[in-house]
Order: sequence, then C-alpha cells, then structure tokens
Amino acid sequence: MTQAFSTLRINSDRMLDSFSQLASIGATADGGVNRPTFSEAHLTARQWFKEEIEKSGLEFHTDGAGNHSAILKSSAGRVAPHGFGGAYRDQTFLLGSHLDSVPNGGRFDGALGVMAALEVLKTVKENGIRLKVNLEAIDFTDEEGTLVGLLGSAALAGHLHQKDLASPRGGRENLVAGMKRAGLSEESMLSAARPKDSLAGYLELHIEQGKRLERAGMNIGIVSAIVGIWSYRLSFIGRADHAGSTTIDDRLDASLGASAFTLAARELVMRDFPNCVVNVGKMDFAPGAFNIVPARVDLALEFRSPDEEEFNRLDIALLELAQKEARRFGLELEIEFLGKHSPSIMHEKVCNAFAASCDDLGLMHVSLSSGAGHDGQSLADLCPVGMIFVPSVDGASHSPREFTKWEDCVNGANVLLQTVLRLAAG
Ligand code: GLV
Ligand code: MN
Ligand code: MN
Repeated sequence: MTQAFSTLRINSDRMLDSFSQLASIGATADGGVNRPTFSEAHLTARQWFKEEIEKSGLEFHTDGAGNHSAILKSSAGRVAPHGFGGAYRDQTFLLGSHLDSVPNGGRFDGALGVMAALEVLKTVKENGIRLKVNLEAIDFTDEEGTLVGLLGSAALAGHLHQKDLASPRGGRENLVAGMKRAGLSEESMLSAARPKDSLAGYLELHIEQGKRLERAGMNIGIVSAIVGIWSYRLSFIGRADHAGSTTIDDRLDASLGASAFTLAARELVMRDFPNCVVNVGKMDFAPGAFNIVPARVDLALEFRSPDEEEFNRLDIALLELAQKEARRFGLELEIEFLGKHSPSIMHEKVCNAFAASCDDLGLMHVSLSSGAGHDGQSLADLCPVGMIFVPSVDGASHSPREFTKWEDCVNGANVLLQTVLRLAAG
C-alpha cells in the first residue's frame, strides 16, 4: 500500500456525531435502544440512515429484502483488487452490519458496524481515492432474528427460501405485518438475491459481546469462525385445571415439563457438549393465570455450535431430553423446527489483511471465534468474508449495559478503512 493510503484515518468526531444521532432513535431510559426489525423505531432509523447517505453525496440503494445501502461507485472498476486475484469487473466490496436491535438491546450491536462502514465510504470519497471495486455500506434487515434472523443477508446471498418465511421464529403474523409496514412482500424478499460473482468481499466491524479482548488487554479481535445457530419451538401440552381444588398428583402441569427440560438441557450441554451453548429465551404459558394449572407452555429454544457434526448430535440429544421430560410429567410434546444458520470460517486472506492493518496502526490483535451470529455467515460461500471485534466493557451485550470505549470504536473503524484500502485499492 502506498504511504498516502497508510496515513489515512476516519473522522472520529464525524462518526461519533452520526453514532449519537442513531443511538437517540429508539433510545430507552436505561441507555440502550429498542429497535426490533420493522418496529417504528427501526423504520425511523432506516429513514435517518437514508437521509444521512444522501447528505453525504453517496448513492442510496435499497432492495427487495429492505437492506439499505450507501454506494460509492468505483471510478476505475475494471481491475482485480490487490490480494484476491481474478478478473473483478464492476464488483462490489461490501461493508456493513445492522440497525435492528434485540428488544431492549444496546447502542453498539450492529449500529457501530454500519456507522463505521458509512464513515469509511465518506473518508474514501472525500480523499478522492480511486478504488478498483464499488464500495457499499449496508444495513442488513433483521440480523437479530426477532423475525427470521440474518434475513437480509440470506436474501442477498440467495439462501432465503419460502420455507424460511413460512414458520419464522418471530411468528408468521409478526413477519407479515412487519413486511407490510416496511413496504416489502414475500415475493420481494425472495427475489433480492444478487448475481453470484457480484461481490468482491464482505467486511464487518462489530463489538465483541464477550470478555476475551478486555481480559487479554487486546485492541482488536480478528474473527476466525462464526458459530452456527439452530432454533425450535417446543410445546409441552398438559391440561388446564383448578389450581386450588386439583390435588398436586392429579395435574398435567405443562410448566413442569418445560422447566425440567430447561434445567436438564443446561446440564447436558455442560457435561457432554462443552463447545456448545443452549438457551431457553422465552416461555409462553396458556391459559396463563394465577389460578389455572398451565395447559400449555411454548418454549423458545436456541442452541449454538461451531461444528456441524456436533450440531447433529446435540440436536438429537436435546429433542430426546424434551421427550423424556414431557413423559415424566404425563405431557404431550410438539416440536417445531424454526431454522438454522450454519457455522462458517472466515477467509484467510481477509484475516491476514486485518492483521497487517492492525500491525501498521500499532494495535494489538488476537484471533478468536464468534459465539454470536453475524451476517457474514450468510455470505461466506459467496465471497471472501472477514470480521473484526473491538472490546466490550465487561462483556455486556444484548442489554442496555452494552458499552465500548469510543477510542476502541475508532480503532476498529481505522482497521476497517485500512483493510479496505489494502484489499480494494491499487
Ligand atoms: C445475534 O446477535 C445473535 O447472535 O443472536
Ligand atoms: Mn450484531
Ligand atoms: Mn445482536
């Protein structure tokens, strides 16, 4: 890379100003944000992002999946970017993350990556740098899975299918109502795939959402692999009865199967699957009253593994456990599979380019895997994908406690900028 490029830095004040404006949309009293996909706050954030793009003199683009992007067209656009080889004609180098949040989430998850991506485009544009590929800063739809999960990136990658929209983990009615609010449809979602060779690469900056960087005193984590995620709805079905006059031994109490399964699943994973995690994030009781024995509990089950083969074994073990606990309390069990995201490995050349950028910037870096899901896993079989993490204070995330020092955010954005220049400039 030329000397002129290696001294280039993003504008920290400008990025902070954008980040703060975004954090005020859907802000909660405890310092977080509440922007579930296609909620009013989420759509407002997207409208703000669109206006921010237009103010910057960048091109705005949206697609059938509702992904929102800023585009900086290549002025050269004909030659292979340094590092990857191949004849790249009119390809796009994608940078991004997501503006949706989990319910009552934090300000940094996703938002930092989108604001850093936009800031990289602004920096490249104002410095008149000629890249050999188009640069695009994208806000992917529904990364968090309040509706489907990795929805926008799966659609763009051509991995989204009708069955994924038929029984989404956030509920079909919510998905349909959300798409309507956003002016999207099932047909538009399913036709948002980009041509297979149109992407030159995908890079994402994200907060770590764990404690490893902070504990190790490292500035940057270079992600080696992203975990896979499988989701189910398990319904334990018993019988409604009077909670006062029915003796304890005469009840078919759905809550007992659901609770016993939750505890036993934790033990199973800790004992037999130490590389995996399991989570029961929600239980809905029906009829749901103080004085009625629960007739039905719908339980939201998610489990994660870095390894496809281990997934299959864990899947069997968890479903057998659910059957066993249901039988133990005389209950029926209904099992609804709600989708999976495969684990994926990050591209070696991108990881090496990130490492070289960190070295040039004097930042300490370490390789680590991601226990959180990210849009890069949708794109990994399409183009070279890489991610970096910056430290999360106390590892907090998916919570209003989520915090990353601004200096760390700026470090991450500069690594992103330098890596784009390394891979996409001549
Ligand atoms: C996304 O943040 C996920 O890992 O659930
Ligand atoms: Mn995220
Ligand atoms: Mn998240």
